[in-house]
Amino acid sequence: MNKKLQPDRIIIFDTTLRDGEQCPGATLNVEEKLLVARQLARLGVDVIEAGFAFASPGDFEAVQKIAQDTGTEDGPTICSLARAIKADIQAAAEAIKPAAHARIHTFISTSDIHLEYQLKKSRAEVLAIAEEMVAYAKSFVDDVEFSPMDAVRSDPEYLYQVLERTIAAGAKTVNIPDTVGYTTPSEFGEMIRGIKENVPNIDQAIISVHGHNDLGLAVANFLEAVKNGARQLECTINGIGERAGNASLEELVMALHVRRQYFNPYLGRPGSSEAPLTKIDTRQIYKTSRLVSNLTGMLVQPNKAIVGANAFAHESGIHQDGVLKNKLTYEIMDAQSIGLTDNLIVLGKHSGRNAFRTRLKELGFELSENELNKAFLRFKEVADKKKEITDWDLEAIVNDEIRQTPELFHLELVQVSCGDRTCPTATVTLRTPNGEELTDAAIGTGPVDAVYKAINRVVNVPNQLIEFSVQSVTAGIDALGEVTIRLRHNEQIFSGHAANTDIIVASAQAYVNALNRLYRAIQNTQSTVSESVREVVTQ
Ligand code: KIV
Ligand code: ZN
Repeated sequence: MNKKLQPDRIIIFDTTLRDGEQCPGATLNVEEKLLVARQLARLGVDVIEAGFAFASPGDFEAVQKIAQDTGTEDGPTICSLARAIKADIQAAAEAIKPAAHARIHTFISTSDIHLEYQLKKSRAEVLAIAEEMVAYAKSFVDDVEFSPMDAVRSDPEYLYQVLERTIAAGAKTVNIPDTVGYTTPSEFGEMIRGIKENVPNIDQAIISVHGHNDLGLAVANFLEAVKNGARQLECTINGIGERAGNASLEELVMALHVRRQYFNPYLGRPGSSEAPLTKIDTRQIYKTSRLVSNLTGMLVQPNKAIVGANAFAHESGIHQDGVLKNKLTYEIMDAQSIGLTDNLIVLGKHSGRNAFRTRLKELGFELSENELNKAFLRFKEVADKKKEITDWDLEAIVNDEIRQTPELFHLELVQVSCGDRTCPTATVTLRTPNGEELTDAAIGTGPVDAVYKAINRVVNVPNQLIEFSVQSVTAGIDALGEVTIRLRHNEQIFSGHAANTDIIVASAQAYVNALNRLYRAIQNTQSTVSESVREVVTQ
């Protein structure tokens, strides 16, 4: 058996930038996708599915830039999704060309329900297309992955046939998607076992799994798949993705890490082996989670496993007592193992540029001179108001200052008057994309409402605020407040994010940030690819 094809560890295929980015409002621009890709590389994922190159010029550019930037010799494999259509495969091949390790992931549905209602093709036709398109993809790259979409609801005998023929055509990875999040752990495990037992050439390919979380079972399904022979897991940071999301990377990785002795025998290792089951640097997990949450505006629920704010907090007296005596009484993993440090106070208002630069470097931020200057100015501003600057503050400052959508509208001034005896009133000044400074004022039901109404009077793009949240970065009355908002315009959702010690200022900046994304999208509408392409890839 080919050793390289059948690894004794689990391959982590991250699809945050493709399937994850498909969830409403999570849309990222090219620069933001690059930041995520670099962090995924630091995290140590094996494969980055960087996008769906054919879907739009923006998607193509993002895949290509990631291939150039992150697809280095010792970096991850860069993959583009492609329908089993020549034009898609050509676009994918072109976009991933700069990567040292490049993969095309092509797919077509195999369930009768998809064949009848969506593709309007017979089983024989789909079989022939799958085989032909895998061979076509193979003419561009050696590393081809094939997915029979909606595999879980496909007839197993037909599925075996499709897999056998696509492997014979050159697929090195066959991915089994639970497209609609329907299966259960034991069913999925049996399905993977069935594939191992009934596809004659299965040892020529790696079995991968992909699944959505509609019933909250995606991670459990994957772990059962691992026990039955799956060696690649397709997952996203924070589990973001279509509908209820995808299987969450951090949950899978930490389950395999914490319970490695349970999983070892399924991978042919001695039960007691301490060797990691994945290549992930678990200490990068928390940082990656925060970055994806900040950039996509998809908040992480406090009780989310591994990366939720409460994941390592002990509230009950009995638990606190136990943990103080011995952490193992109520903790199955160490917070430091996911990169949650004790959050030591590192900098203050007298800290210089060098200390600032050094600490950022230690935290894994590599900023250009210009970015560093901007971030340092912001740091000084915050340090004037807040005595102690922690790592979390630094991270919020950098995210806020450097990782913003290029500005079209810029908030110059925001002022509010509010209280229990006055009508909340706000005045704002914005610099418009053509450099004009416009001031307006409004009253509202509260200070944030008044600010948003005043901004609307200047920007004048109809939209509906659908989510508003404030979270404090650290404890303490002088903490930075992070505001995340989501707004809707013509059925599209845009998110905005900002941090400031003044939550009204943060609210105004987050709103302007979201409006800038909206405005940019309006400007780009001419170049967007047909909606129909996105519609086809709805899963
Ligand atoms: O959910 C799904 O079936 C997919 C495929 C394109 C792999 O995302
Ligand atoms: Zn999917």
